[in-house]
Amino acid sequence: MSVLFCFGLGYSGARLARRACRAGFRVLGTSRKEHARKEYKDVEVLSFDDEERVRWALDRTTHLVTCVPPHKTSETNNKKDKKDKDEEEAREDAVLARYGDALGKIPWLCYYSSLSVYGDHGGGEVDEETAPAFPLSVRGEKRLAAERAWQRLATRGGARLCVMRIAGIYGEGRNALLRVRDKKGKPFVESAGVFNRIHVDDLVEAVLCAARKRATGIFNICDDVPSLSHAPILYAAKLLGVEAPELVSVEEARTRGLLSEMALSFHGECKRAKNGKMRKELEVALRYADYRAGLIELAQRT
Ligand SMILES: NC(=O)c1ccc[n+]([C@@H]2O[C@H](COP(=O)([O-])OP(=O)(O)OC[C@H]3O[C@@H](n4cnc5c(N)ncnc54)[C@H](OP(=O)(O)O)[C@@H]3O)[C@@H](O)[C@H]2O)c1
Repeated sequence: MSVLFCFGLGYSGARLARRACRAGFRVLGTSRKEHARKEYKDVEVLSFDDEERVRWALDRTTHLVTCVPPHKTSETNNKKDKKDKDEEEAREDAVLARYGDALGKIPWLCYYSSLSVYGDHGGGEVDEETAPAFPLSVRGEKRLAAERAWQRLATRGGARLCVMRIAGIYGEGRNALLRVRDKKGKPFVESAGVFNRIHVDDLVEAVLCAARKRATGIFNICDDVPSLSHAPILYAAKLLGVEAPELVSVEEARTRGLLSEMALSFHGECKRAKNGKMRKELEVALRYADYRAGLIELAQRT
């Protein structure tokens, strides 16, 4: 039986785990939250820190997916020696740091990365062959370092590695409709930058397609139509039949301290991601080709 192990049963990991159970996988995963470990019927949820059980499960895993992002703080960049740098990059990823030695023999590995690795392309198109535009944001640097660390691990162990460069994830429980409804007087940011997005159900489908094929390589996982950052907010307001919320410029958001540095850094990059490789090689048929299709369906559900 195929055994799928998911590190990080967060927003998208939890949905992948449940869908993979229905698709016939035996599914195990980790969470550091005790309450989350009790929420599942079919998924066997382990504590990330329970090394004995996690290692036992990894020995039986045929498909490994990791949704764990790189650590937020970094000490990497001062290291000059290449071997030191490789080791430091692996330490920045909690999964590699703790369980790296137990992963190399798993036949298929899938790393959740992000479109941030491309950096700012001034609105130009990016596909999987596009080189990063330096300098990258700290987020982008860390992702790229994590991708490299996973690639080294796969090469050493002879595993098949699939790297998913994911757009902004939305879906049930995390979407513009909720943000418009729940916002308590805070304005939204309006910028000239465009962004791709991906509905979590389409993301899950793409990962399952890749798992079935044991696909290798890098894939952009995103919708067909990049759009302005505030477009889903305005569309959500329209669907809800409420007044369009106040929008402020990035500069104003910075001056008034409305957004974190991390959130502001998203607005410093603009690119249009292409998903042709995902569609062709993984044979993913997107249910939600753009944010409008996703929001319409979500609005009907609520
Ligand atoms: N959200 C987006 O729009 C977006 C876009 C592109 C890429 N991504 C990336 O895609 C992945 C999944 O996204 P998501 O939105 O589903 O993330 P999420 O809800 O934040 O889930 C991340 C999971 O990683 C686990 N985790 C984080 N740090 C950990 C650590 N140090 N040790 C062990 N486990 C740790 C969390 O565990 P606990 O549940 O135990 O806290 C959580 O289950 C992430 O890597 C994210 O950065 C996200």
